[in-house]
Amino acid sequence: MTKQTIRDIDWQGKRALVRVDFNVPLEDGRITDDTRIRAALPTIQKLTESGAKVILMSHLGRPKGERNAKYSLAPVAERLKELLPGTPLEFADDCVGTEVAQAVGHLAAGGVLLLENLRYHAQEEQNDETFAHSLAALGDVYVNDAFGAAHRAHASTAGIAKFLPAVAGLLMEREISVMGAALANPQRPFTAVIGGAKVSDKVSVLENLAKKVDTLLIGGGMANTFLAAQGYAMGKSLVEATAVETAKSFLESVQGTGCRVLLPVDLVIADAFSAEAQHQVCSVRDVPADWMALDIGPETQRAYEIEVQKSQTVIWNGPMGVFELAPFAAGTLGVAQAMAAVDGTTIVGGGDSVAAVEQAGLAERMTHVSTGGGASLEFLEGKELPGVLALNDLNDRT
Ligand code: 3PG
Repeated sequence: MTKQTIRDIDWQGKRALVRVDFNVPLEDGRITDDTRIRAALPTIQKLTESGAKVILMSHLGRPKGERNAKYSLAPVAERLKELLPGTPLEFADDCVGTEVAQAVGHLAAGGVLLLENLRYHAQEEQNDETFAHSLAALGDVYVNDAFGAAHRAHASTAGIAKFLPAVAGLLMEREISVMGAALANPQRPFTAVIGGAKVSDKVSVLENLAKKVDTLLIGGGMANTFLAAQGYAMGKSLVEATAVETAKSFLESVQGTGCRVLLPVDLVIADAFSAEAQHQVCSVRDVPADWMALDIGPETQRAYEIEVQKSQTVIWNGPMGVFELAPFAAGTLGVAQAMAAVDGTTIVGGGDSVAAVEQAGLAERMTHVSTGGGASLEFLEGKELPGVLALNDLNDRT
C-alpha cells in the first residue's frame, strides 16, 4: 500500500470528511443488505475514538442529479444509529449549503453527521470543481473509504482531493492491499475462477489475469460463448454472438503461455429459463437445439473444485450458473465450498459471486470479500482507480 491512511493523521478536533459507499439495496425503503454499511464501521469508529468530527458522504443509486426520496440516505442514517449505539449521529437533508455548514459547525469531537445523497447534484458525477470545492469546505482532511465507487472519477471521489489532504480509510486500505498483494505477489498455485454472463464484460479481466495466474477456470453464461468459439453447438444457450471472435482470440493468445484455461466439459441444461423447467446433464458436445445451458455440469464442477483446492491463492469473480434458481446453483456453490476449504488466500470480488458466497453462509471463511462490484472488476483488469490515484502517496506531506 503506497497511500497514506487515516493512521497517518492526528485527528483530535479535526473534521474528517469521509467518502463511503453506502449504495445499499433498498426495498420499500428498507435496507435488504447492510454489508457496505458494516464494512465502513472500523473507519468511522477509529475516527470517532481518535477525537475527529466525522462527516460521511455517499451516493445511493442513480437519481441523475435530482432530489428523489426513493434514493434518500435517511434509512442508512437509521441503520447507522443502530450499528453505532452511543455515538451522536445526525442526518443532514443535503450535502452542501448553509444548513449543512451549520450542522458541521455544531458537530462535537466524536460525533457523526451523514449527508444526503451526493447524486442529488448533477455536479457530483460531472466531477465539477466548484462542487468539489464546496464539499471540501466541510472538512479538514478527506478520507476515501468508498472502494466500491473508486472506479468513478466524481467530485467526491477524485476532484475533492485537490483541495484537502487525502488519505485512505481502513476498508479502502484492506481492499487495495489484499487484492493488490494477490495480483502482484501471489502464493502459487494461483487460480482465478471467472464466470458471469458476458465475455465482453470480462475480457479485460481475463487478459490481465492470464498474465498472472497458473490456471483460469471459466464458467457461467460466458463459458457458452467460449464453447461456441470452439465450434460446439450451444442450442438456445445465451451466446454472445459479437464476442465469439474475441473468445477465440483470447484462447489462442494463451496458447503456449504459463496459463492453463479450463472450460466446461459438461453442462446442466434446461428446456426453459425457469426453476420448474425440465433439466438434465449433458456433454458440451450434445446440447440439443432447443435446450439451454444454465450451469456447469458435475464433472466440470469436480474438476474446478480440485483446481481450487490445490491452490494457494484463488480469486473468484462471477457465478458458474444461474445460482438464483436452485436446480442451477450447484456449480456456483461447489466453487464457494471449495474456496472455503483453501488454506491460502481466497478473494471474492463482484456483486453476484459475493451474493452467492453469502447465500451459502461462507463469507466468513474467505480471506476477503470485496465490497466493490465495478470497482473490483476494474482492479482485476489492472486499471488504476481514480479514487485511489487521488489519495496522497506515503511520502507526500499532509
Ligand atoms: C456500485 O454499487 O458498484 C457502486 O456503488 C458504484 O455505483 P455506480 O455504478 O452507480 O457508480
